[in-house]
Amino acid sequence: MHIGLLTGGGDCPGLNAVIRAVALALMRDAGARVSGIRRGFLGLMDNQVQPLSAADVQGIVAQGGTILGTHNRCDPFHDGQAGGADRSDIALQTLDEHRLDALVVIGGDGTMAIAHRFAQRGVPVVGVPKTIDNDLLHTERSFGFDSAVSVVAESLGRLETTARSHGRVMIAETMGRYAGWIALEAGLAGAADVIAIPERELQLDALLARCDEQHASGGCTLISIAEGVSLDGQLSVQQTLADSPDPLRLGGVGMALQRWLQPQLRAEVRSVQLGHVQRGGTPTAFDRVLATRFGWQAAQLVQRGQFGRMVALQGDTLTDIALQDVAQGCRRVPPGHPLVQTAASLGVLI
Ligand code: F6P
Repeated sequence: MHIGLLTGGGDCPGLNAVIRAVALALMRDAGARVSGIRRGFLGLMDNQVQPLSAADVQGIVAQGGTILGTHNRCDPFHDGQAGGADRSDIALQTLDEHRLDALVVIGGDGTMAIAHRFAQRGVPVVGVPKTIDNDLLHTERSFGFDSAVSVVAESLGRLETTARSHGRVMIAETMGRYAGWIALEAGLAGAADVIAIPERELQLDALLARCDEQHASGGCTLISIAEGVSLDGQLSVQQTLADSPDPLRLGGVGMALQRWLQPQLRAEVRSVQLGHVQRGGTPTAFDRVLATRFGWQAAQLVQRGQFGRMVALQGDTLTDIALQDVAQGCRRVPPGHPLVQTAASLGVLI
C-alpha cells in the first residue's frame, strides 16, 4: 500500500502531530509506504511527491506549521490562474505516476470540499479536520483551536496590564472567520469585560455605557472581538484574493471599533489585531493529543478501506462522517450556547 499525505489551507498548530501519527500508524500497522505531497493540492499539480520515512516524522510532534508546506489558493477543479478551468486530470496523473493507492488530506472546509470532488472522481480519500477557527461542521473540536485560544487568552492577560495601569479600553481582535469560538472561549479564559462575536449583535449603546461606568469607577475595559463581527452591518475586509476558493480575508474590526468608540469616551482606546500570532508556534499538549488521535483514526479508515470520509470528534468519541456533509456550511456559535449564557450571567457584555 502506498499512501499520499497532504496539508491544505492555512497552517495550524498540530498539523505535524497528525502527519506523524498517520505515517507511523500506517507504516507500523500496515507496512505501508507513505509519501508527502508538498504545498497541498499544488504538489499534485506540480508533481511534488516525496517518500517519508519514520525518521522524517520523528521529533515533529511539538513543531508548529507543517513540514509538508501548504497552500490555500490551489483548487485543481477550479484553477483561478486559468480562468476557473478544471485541471484535476493533472492531479490524477500525479497519483497514477506515483501509484498512490489513497490520499489522506488534512485541512479545513475548503480542503474538504476539494477532497470530496476527488472522491467523486474515484480517488480513495480520507479527510482530517484542521482549523483554529473550530468552525467545521460535524466535529466538535478541531486541533489548533486550543492552541489559538491559549495564545489569545494569554494576550488578553497582557493587555489587561496596560488597560488597568492606564485606565484604558483595550480591544483584542481575534481570528475565526464567520464564527466567534476563539473570541468567546479566549474572552472567558482571559476575563474580558466584553465579548463580541459574529453570531450576536453588538449592543453599541450598552458598550459605551459599560466603558463609561468602568472608567468612572477607576477601572478599565477589556474587549475580545472576533474578526467576523459586523459594525453598522459592515464586515471588515482586510484583503480580497480573487483566485482563492475563499477570497475574503477578514480583519480590521478592532481598529474600526476603536475609531468609533474614541470620540465618545473619556478613556483612551487602543486596539491590537492578534492575527497570525494566534495561529503560529507550538501546539498545546491537548492539541498534540487530539491531532495524534485524529491521525491514528485516519490510518484506521485507510486500512479498513473506508474512503470518502472525514475523521470527527463527537463528545469524546472519535467517529467519521461523509466528506460531502462537511462542505455544506460552517459551525457557528449558537446564540444561546451555554458558554454565552455563562458569560452573560457573570456580567460580561456579550
Ligand atoms: O481559517 C483560519 C484563518 O486563520 C482565519 O481565522 C483567518 O481569517 C484566515 O485563516 C487568515 O488567512 P490567511 O493566512 O490567508 O491570512
